[in-house]
Formats: sequence, structure tokens, C-alpha cells
Amino acid sequence: MILSIGLAVGFLAVMTLFLALLLVFAERRILNYGPCTLDINDGKKTLVVNGGSTLLSSLANNDIFIPSACGGRGSCAYCKVQVFEGGGMIGPVEEPYLSPEDIKENVRLSCQVKVRQDIKLAIPEELFLAKRFRGKLLHKRNLTYDIVELRIALIEPESIEFVAGQYIQLESPEYAGRDAVMRAYSISSVPSDDRHVEVIIRKVPEGICTTWVFEHLKENQEVFLSGPFGEFQLTDTKAPAVFLAGGSGMAPIWSILREMRERGDNRKAFYFFSGRNQDDLFFTKELFALEKELPNFKYVPCLTREDANSNWQGERGRIPAVLPKYIPDAKPFEAYLCGSSSLIDACVDALRQHGIQEPNIYYDKFE
Ligand SMILES: Cc1cc2nc3c(=O)[nH]c(=O)nc-3n(C[C@H](O)[C@H](O)[C@H](O)COP(=O)(O)OP(=O)(O)OC[C@H]3O[C@@H](n4cnc5c(N)ncnc54)[C@H](O)[C@@H]3O)c2cc1C
Ligand code: FES
Repeated sequence: MILSIGLAVGFLAVMTLFLALLLVFAERRILNYGPCTLDINDGKKTLVVNGGSTLLSSLANNDIFIPSACGGRGSCAYCKVQVFEGGGMIGPVEEPYLSPEDIKENVRLSCQVKVRQDIKLAIPEELFLAKRFRGKLLHKRNLTYDIVELRIALIEPESIEFVAGQYIQLESPEYAGRDAVMRAYSISSVPSDDRHVEVIIRKVPEGICTTWVFEHLKENQEVFLSGPFGEFQLTDTKAPAVFLAGGSGMAPIWSILREMRERGDNRKAFYFFSGRNQDDLFFTKELFALEKELPNFKYVPCLTREDANSNWQGERGRIPAVLPKYIPDAKPFEAYLCGSSSLIDACVDALRQHGIQEPNIYYDKFE
């Protein structure tokens, strides 16, 4: 009896596996979707592509780069485009990322839409400007024990046009059995230095791209990146600004602050930077020097776990606790935050409690 149940279960398992393999085979070999037309922005651009790939990669293969911070895994929701015809049904991976308004406006995750027939779609106009760049790594510099700065010289195309605060996608190739991926990194250099791109990268344990950057990428090596992407940028309202960051969240703010210096933008501005102890701080000298060049700018590093007996003279504690000491009434301020979700969520709550209106809070979450 037990033997026959075992045989039946085994038979079912083998049949299920066989059917699954058959489906994959059919998808790859038998279902030849042939050439499909992608009509983008009401005929502004028309592409003929081979069906079978995702919309995201079909566009990228034709030099139209849609942001994709998770590398197409369906977990960042950065790759949204409008699909009016030919996109098929919304899949279970997409559902959690699409609001009722998104669905009403035909928004889809382009990494989850398969090209199986002609598609009519719309993308933001500025994405036609994003390009793929070939560059050379000029230097890889340690900023802290777990953060490096990369300076990349652009070779082809040889210059980039971007707004301080935007990000690029760095490509890490296949290595040590790990897949080739693309990951988002905010540009830390200034737009005027348009033949180079600098990024600041924090090591994520076991992370595919960061392990490649820290352990395999060498100076003078060829690198590929695409961009620019993103809407994180300083407004031109001249409202006083409060910047908040931790770790590699420094990157876009370092770009914005250096651009403010170039433009002589002397708006009132505070920069709260969070670290556990002094080992987490970098660009400290440069940021205090900026206080002299921009007289309305103040840098406030805040340490959460600095040894009580150390020589540290600065602030101790988390940003939300320190902030009211410097900004008792935050109502007139605009806030710019960058870093981990936990830091951003805690700071956004504190900013709201101190009177900053929600539309005046801008942030880029790194994970
Ligand atoms: C708009 C945007 C801008 C970004 N800018 C920067 C930047 O300037 N500098 C920078 O260092 N990073 C930045 N990031 C994060 C970056 O894109 C990668 O997610 C990060 O470097 C990890 O990539 P990985 O391939 O090494 O790790 P993965 O292989 O993708 O992840 C490995 C594991 O680590 C977890 N994980 C992923 N990212 C993080 C993280 N940041 N912290 C902790 N755990 C994580 C994952 O859940 C997974 O379990 C940005 C992200 C976005 C969306
Ligand atoms: S690329 Fe991240 S969700 Fe599509």
C-alpha cells in the first residue's frame, strides 16, 4: 500500500516536472513570436524587435534605457511605462507595485511585460536622452572601511549631461558563477565635470554588484554604465534646505552641495549625516570647509554609537533627536533624504512632526 502511494507520488512529481520543462521549451523554441513592432510615444519612435524578451530588455537592446534599479527582478518598480496595447495581462509580480491610478493609466512594469505581439507604449520623454556609456575606471579610493569612491572617465560617448541628484546604472559582468547585473548608483560628481562620473558605493555582504566592485574591479578596467535617471534634485524655489543622509547616501548630496558652491547658491542649508562612530565619517574636512564658502550652510555629523570616552565633540544620537536643536520650526524648509529605508522612514516621520509639508520632502531610497 505504502509502496503504491509512493510510486503514485513519484509518478506525479515526474509528470509535473516534465510538463514544466515542456512549457519552458515551448516558450523558447516552439512559440516563435517573430518580429514585433514597438510603437513608442505615438509613433515618435518605432522599433521592430524579435518577440520573446521582456519589454525592458527589448528597449535596452535598442538603446532606450528604462530605469531598473533591481536589474529586472520585479522588486524596485523603477521600470514603469505605459502600455496601451499588446502588453497582455498584469502578472502577479507586478500587482503589488501598481496603484489603482497606475492601472487606470495603463502603467506596467516593463521588466515583467513579455513582447509577444505588437505593443503601443509611452515612456517619459527624458528617457530618450539616457545612454549607455563605455568608460575606464581611473581610481577606486577607500572612503571608509566599507565605502569606496569610483572615478570613471567616459570614453564612448565621451560626456554626460545630468542634473545633480540623478543616478546611473552600473553593469557588473558575470564573475565567479554570478550573473551579470545592473545596479543603481547616485552620481556624486558635479554636472560641470561632464567627462567623468563619480559614484560612492557601500559594500553589501554577498551583494552581486558590490562584491564585484570591491573584489574584482581594478583601476584602468573597462566599465559600462547607463543613464542618467531619476528625479531627485534640488528645486529652484530657493527655499531653505535640509539634507539628511547616512553611508553612501552621501553621494547625490555631495554632488548637489558641490554644485551649489559652483553656482554660488547661498540658500540656508543644513546637512545632517548619520554614522555609528567616527569610522563612518568621510569628506568631513571638505564639508566643514564648505561652511566657509557657503556662509548659510551648516554640516552636522551625528554619531549614534560613538564611544562615550572618545574625543568626539560633535552631536551624538539619531538625526530625528538632533534636528530640532538646529531647526526648531521646519515649516519653511524643503527636505532631501538619501540612504537606507530605515533611516529615511525615521527621518520623514520626524520632519513631518516638525512641520515640513509632505510635498516638500524628496528622497531616494537605496534599498
Ligand atoms: C535610486 C537608487 C540609487 C542608489 N544609489 C546608491 C549609491 O549611490 N551607493 C550605494 O552604495 N548604493 C546605492 N543604491 C543601492 C544599489 O543600487 C544596490 O542595491 C546595492 O549596491 C546592492 O547591490 P548588490 O548587487 O551588491 O546586492 P544584491 O545582490 O542586489 O543584494 C544582496 C542582498 O542584499 C540586500 N540589499 C540590497 N541592497 C542593499 C543595500 N543597499 N543595503 C543593505 N542590503 C541590501 C538584498 O535584499 C539582498 O538580500 C541605490 C539604489 C537605488 C534604488
Ligand atoms: S526593473 Fe525593477 S521592477 Fe522592473
